[in-house]
Order: sequence, then C-alpha cells, then structure tokens
Amino acid sequence: MKKLYIKTFGCQMNEYDSEKMADVLHSSEGMSNTSDIEEADVILLNTCSIREKAQEKVFSDLGRLRELKQNKPNLLIGVGGCVASQEGKQIVNRAPHVDFVFGPQTLHRLPDLIAKRLETGKSQVDISFPEIEKFDHLPRSRQTRGSAFVSIMEGCSKYCSYCVVPYTRGEEVSRPFEDVLTEIVGLTEQGVKEITLLGQNVNAYRGTMGNSKEIADFALLLEYMSEIPGLDRIRFTTSHPKEFTQRLIDVYDKVPQLVSHLHLPVQHASDTILAAMKRGYTALEFKSIIRKMRAVRPNLSLSSDFIVGFPGETDADFEKLMDMVVELNFDNSYSFIFSPRPGTPAANLMDDTPYAIKLKRLQRLIAQIDAQALVVSKAMLDKTERVLIEGFTRDGAHLLGRTENNRVINILIPPNDVAHPQADSWIGEMLDVKVTEVLKHTLRGELAYVPA
Ligand code: SAH
Ligand code: SF4
Ligand code: F3S
Repeated sequence: MKKLYIKTFGCQMNEYDSEKMADVLHSSEGMSNTSDIEEADVILLNTCSIREKAQEKVFSDLGRLRELKQNKPNLLIGVGGCVASQEGKQIVNRAPHVDFVFGPQTLHRLPDLIAKRLETGKSQVDISFPEIEKFDHLPRSRQTRGSAFVSIMEGCSKYCSYCVVPYTRGEEVSRPFEDVLTEIVGLTEQGVKEITLLGQNVNAYRGTMGNSKEIADFALLLEYMSEIPGLDRIRFTTSHPKEFTQRLIDVYDKVPQLVSHLHLPVQHASDTILAAMKRGYTALEFKSIIRKMRAVRPNLSLSSDFIVGFPGETDADFEKLMDMVVELNFDNSYSFIFSPRPGTPAANLMDDTPYAIKLKRLQRLIAQIDAQALVVSKAMLDKTERVLIEGFTRDGAHLLGRTENNRVINILIPPNDVAHPQADSWIGEMLDVKVTEVLKHTLRGELAYVPA
C-alpha cells in the first residue's frame, strides 16, 4: 500500500481540505496516511499565505524535501493550498523538484494530476477555480468520532485591504442547502454529536434550495439543523460582523444546540483603522452585536482575531482596541502583527510604526486577554460542565475533552484515577465533568459520574 504524508499549514479550512486530499487518494489510489515522512511515496504540503512567516515556512520545507527526493527518485511532491494558489507555476520555477501544484478548489483532481505527471514526466499545475465542482467529486468522510467539520461555503468576497484570501480561494460560493443537511444527517447517524460548520464567512451562506429559486441563509440552515436528532452541539467558524444579522442573533434563542461561545473577528476597535482595513463596520456596530448576543446568551464566551500595528495605527488607536478588549471581555484571541501581503492594497500603505512598538502592543493585548480568560476559567471551578470527550491524554491515563466554551479539559476517572476498561467507548460522548482545577490554558476535572 502506498503511503501519503500531508503537512498542513494555516486555518481549519486547510485542515478540512487535507482530510479530503487523504480521502481522495485513499479511494482512488488506495493510499494510506503515514506520520513518518521517510516512508512516504507522496508528500503533500497544504500551504498558507496569510502572513509572511507562514509563506516562508513552505519554501524552507521544500528545500529540505529536495534532499529527501535525491535519495528516493520515485517520491512525488505536491504543493496545494493558498501559496500554491497564489504562486502557481512560480513554485515549480523556484523548486523544480515539485511534481504538481494544485489549489484549494482543485484538490479533487489530485489523481489526474498524479497520472499526468507520471505519463508526461513534467510537473503539473492546476490552480483554477472551477466553481463548487470540488464538493461533487469528493468521497464521503471516512471516519469521525463525536465531532466533525462540515464545509458549507468557500472563498471570500469581502476584500479586506490586508488579506490574500479572496485571491487565493476565490469569491464566496455556497454549497446547496440539501447537500449540507444530507451530509450532517449522515454524520449524526454515525454517532457524531457536534458539528462545526466551516467557511471563511459562514454567515454569508446563500444555499440554493432544491430546484427552486429560493435561497437559504445561514440562520435558516441553523434552524433546520436544530431539528436533526442526535445533534447536541453546533459550532461555526468563521463568521463576519458585517453579516451578523438580527435574524442570526434571534436564532440563538430558538436553537439551544448552538454553543454559547462565539468567535467573531473584529480586527480592531479604531474606526479609522477599521475603515482603512475595509471591514465594513464601526466599533459601535460591533459592540451592538455583542450586546444583543449577550441579551440572548448572558454566559457568552467571546473570542476574536486582532491585527496589531496596521499601517498608521497610533497609540490612541491602540488604546481604543485595549478598551474594547476590556469592555467586551474577550477570553481568547488569534492576535498577530500586520504582515504586508504582496498584491493587497494595504501592502502599499505608508507604515512608520517601529516593529518594537508593534511587538509591545501585541504583548500587552495578549496579556490582557489571557488575564480575562483566567477569570472566566476560575468561575468554572467546582461547576459541572457538559464535555465532549475527544480522546485520551498522551500518557493514556486520562480522558481529554472540550467544554461548551471551548476549553480543553483533562479528566480523571474516579474513584482511583486509573484508566477505566470502558473508557474507550466514551470517546465521542457528552459526559458531565466537574471542574477541579484551573491551569493557565487548560482545565482539570473529574467525571461527575462514571457511565455504565
Ligand atoms: N474570514 C475571517 C478571517 C480569515 S483570515 C474574517 O474576516 O474574520 C484569519 C485571520 O488572519 C484574520 O482574521 C486576520 O486577523 C489575520 N490576517 C489576515 N491577513 C493578515 C495580514 N496581512 N497580517 C496579519 N494578520 C492577518
Ligand atoms: Fe480576509 Fe477579510 Fe475575507 Fe476575512 S473577510 S477572509 S479577513 S478578506
Ligand atoms: Fe492561510 Fe489560506 Fe487559510 S491563507 S489562513 S490557509 S485560507
């Protein structure tokens, strides 16, 4: 059996795509995954170009792979994902030992690309955007336990001034409504309890319904999902503040399966910076969304993405960001320093803030959010949480799970804290866990009762 090694960079969309690549090559070539790069027959790099550092890593990895290939001439190396989409043929020019380059929308054509590479002896490049064709050609997900990701839309049409995603993944395209629901029902029938809906802007979802001209929006999709038996938890990532409508907020009142945890990227809190970013909302509008969400879900735990050191960001702008972080009590974030991306408008903006100052701002922001997260975690102490069991700790002694507000929890099994013979069958189940200890980034707990 041929072995496939995939290295994934970047976001959950890429994680999802990597699984699909494995599925495609499993069903067409009978390949199986390996975690040992030395024994691989095919190596795929699923790349990310969101920031300069992510992109650089790809080329340094490719440098190392050249040596591997010298010792193993039949090894095939493929590059997919967002760097592939952006650079296309340039990748082969810069790294001729790459056998094929494919984009996020052409990963289902991998078997063809490999066949053509073997037939012609020439490197192959296909980074086109054949609409949503990909979803129609993918085999069903092979294995899931408890939790699964379902992609509902692809791409982005927002064109924020700093971002490559609309160029690398194309404009927003939604999967048909029935396709999404059918996939979710199939997963819940296999025992999946938690679904995370995926897309760059899930609330831009506009799925066609049957053969009619009617279009389902994200709120309607969630309402339909709430009727699916066995589905306990619904998460989604990422949504956009611009389309976070009242209709969507109202759905939180009707759909208890929706978790009280929201990841809603705000990026900044200065209206000058938000306008320069082309985000399409003001700080006040963002705060208003959160205020309404908390009216419906008082316990809402809130996380976000922030960009620090955008060109022109003054001390005063940054203080506005810090004020909002405190006011809205964010308890997690993906915060990064602005990275100028070639081809995006913001890359040409005059940027005179020294890097050292940007770094200080970033550190202050992260420290504040960490402190807030700890307060939220401490309030969970001694409380009983519904936890989706995801697996075991590395040493195999304890269970690992995730709370509704997305915290990882390490779980002891009373009475004597040893691996229980039945523990394996609890993976993928929702169990009640009492929080017994709060650490910096994780929790510890014990089963409130030991299931039969
Ligand atoms: N569609 C999502 C986010 C997708 S990209 C949204 O708009 O909310 C993930 C995150 O990467 C963004 O939220 C942003 O914070 C960060 N990011 C994107 N481009 C960046 C850049 N040029 N420099 C630094 N961070 C960037
Ligand atoms: Fe990038 Fe903006 Fe689209 Fe998010 S909404 S993916 S930040 S362009
Ligand atoms: Fe990176 Fe592409 Fe995702 S640039 S963050 S892999 S959409």
